[in-house]
Amino acid sequence: MDKTSNRLIIALDVPTIEDVTRIVDTVGDAVDCYKVGMEAFYGLGHTVLAQLASRNKKVFVDLKLHDIPTTVSKTVKALCQFSPAFITLHAAGGVKMLKAAMEEADLWAARTQRPRPKLLAITVLTSLGERDWVEIGYQSPIRESVLRMAVMCKEAGMDGVVAAPQEAAAIRALCGSDFLIVTPGIRLHPERNGDQTRTATPAQALKAGAHYLVIGRPVLSAESPRDEVKHILNSMDEYMEKAKG
Ligand code: C5P
Repeated sequence: MDKTSNRLIIALDVPTIEDVTRIVDTVGDAVDCYKVGMEAFYGLGHTVLAQLASRNKKVFVDLKLHDIPTTVSKTVKALCQFSPAFITLHAAGGVKMLKAAMEEADLWAARTQRPRPKLLAITVLTSLGERDWVEIGYQSPIRESVLRMAVMCKEAGMDGVVAAPQEAAAIRALCGSDFLIVTPGIRLHPERNGDQTRTATPAQALKAGAHYLVIGRPVLSAESPRDEVKHILNSMDEYMEKAKG
């Protein structure tokens, strides 16, 4: 398994390119991979990817693709040209959409001889609670829905899923240790959840079997993003040491 600094991904949910470079340059070599979500990608375009590439940072393109199979697979092909490490798409798009996306990524990798981006499926957003879930019209509890989606995604050939830390252990038990689990909703201080409902501390997420932890606002809004990152990495290292012993 990677060292802890490779397992922490910072969500660059910021509005300007100055914010992007400030955060990335302040955090420096403490973090290797950044998540570029809708706000930065739609607002700043490819500049944000170029800034990260020029600093040798890995990119997690989190556009949560969800459309008909042809549209999603062509979008995956378009994104592959930036050589991201990860691309996300919604499990709710269904097996045909997921498989079409993977086929396109495989073709791109074979043609270019470059590493294929890992495709990760979004299960249920960590901001949703049971009441929100029922309100949308789903009938089974969130946990059951997440597990069903995870198994479906594994069978469709996905590299892994994005899920809440609370669901990670059960996903790992069902889908095996090679199936990647990425957990957002990470909070050092759970009393400052923001709009996240299903949160956990970094140690809880690692204990549950998450391979990668995604954290945004607690770092972005910290007085010193670098200190906050160090703090999180220390708590991850502490847990790893304890788990070894
Ligand atoms: O600021 P915060 O730490 O809550 O950021 C979490 C990030 O993870 C956000 O960029 C959000 O879009 C993303 N995310 C999530 N829940 C998911 C998938 C992605 O919160 N299921």
